[in-house]
Amino acid sequence: MKKFPLYLAPMEDVTDPAFRLLCKRFGATRVYTEFVNADALVRDVASTTRKLNIYAEERPVAIQIYGREPDSMADAARIVEQAKPDFIDINFGCPVKKVAGKGAGAGLLKDIPKMLDITRAVVKAVNTPVTVKTRLGWDDNNRIITDIAEALQDCGIAELAIHGRTRCQMYRGDADWTLIREVKNNPRIHIPIIGNGDVTTPERAKECFDNYGIDAIMIGRATFGCPWIFQDIQHYLNTGELLPERSMQWCIDILKEHVERSIEWIGDERKGIVHSRRHFAASPVFKGLFDFRQTRIALLRADSKAEVFQIMDEIVEKWGNRPTLPSDK
Ligand SMILES: Cc1cc2nc3c(=O)[nH]c(=O)nc-3n(C[C@H](O)[C@H](O)[C@H](O)COP(=O)(O)O)c2cc1C
Repeated sequence: MKKFPLYLAPMEDVTDPAFRLLCKRFGATRVYTEFVNADALVRDVASTTRKLNIYAEERPVAIQIYGREPDSMADAARIVEQAKPDFIDINFGCPVKKVAGKGAGAGLLKDIPKMLDITRAVVKAVNTPVTVKTRLGWDDNNRIITDIAEALQDCGIAELAIHGRTRCQMYRGDADWTLIREVKNNPRIHIPIIGNGDVTTPERAKECFDNYGIDAIMIGRATFGCPWIFQDIQHYLNTGELLPERSMQWCIDILKEHVERSIEWIGDERKGIVHSRRHFAASPVFKGLFDFRQTRIALLRADSKAEVFQIMDEIVEKWGNRPTLPSDK
């Protein structure tokens, strides 16, 4: 089976090694770390340097950094390079106030000269291929991606990932892929363009490849509690057919494995469980189950592995025979 380029998007508090390894196993062809703060890295903050841990089985892997000054970003890139990632990715897309408001992440969409200075400085500092992930622009009046894509390419980046929203949209509204296509269709652009935003089904992934001409698709939120989405999409892109319905038991076994791996990675049972809740809350496995509310609350409150696993076993017992509707996924 051909492997289509499907990447696991960088996501803070989500794309740790435990989750990356699962996504890789199900067919993600590249994974990204959570974003890593350049200043904290330079200051050698332990919780930050820990994010540089990558494993042979998950390669190719990109470590993502963010910051607001060319010098510290270059220093951070040199430190990151020692971890031997396959790519060093620069985050020019994070919209949250504590990042963008301080002139890092998507904040740099308001200061293009500085964005380009940072990019040049990072490219110059390392031999590892440098990639960039950004958004369409700051707001609807400044959808400048088609202008800056070329300038970023001229700085020497290897690839560009574009999330089809502006900073001001945060995560609201639908991702707009038309400008992503425009960047890709620019005859002067020769680096691979990665499209990102709202790819949640195999059919949508195929549409994105077919209609927008992008070189790869990056998937974020649709992976929550569903690392097998990469397998679903790979299969559909190869065969034009959806995989048969997965059993509840199979899905729960994967979710349990994720819990185990999270606890192991974090090194604390309770924190590992709390960390997994985002996946329980969003997993398609639990969508549309009749009379599920109380069980859902219990699942999201449980704070020991034994409790979580027991609730999951009860879910299989009670709802396991229900064929999940394809539209639930
Ligand atoms: C919880 C969460 C954390 C995120 N953290 C990062 C991050 O660290 N770096 C980054 O570039 N984007 C981050 N993003 C944005 C995603 O990478 C992605 O661009 C966005 O979710 C849109 O893709 P999607 O519609 O497939 O989710 C984050 C998104 C979410 C939901």
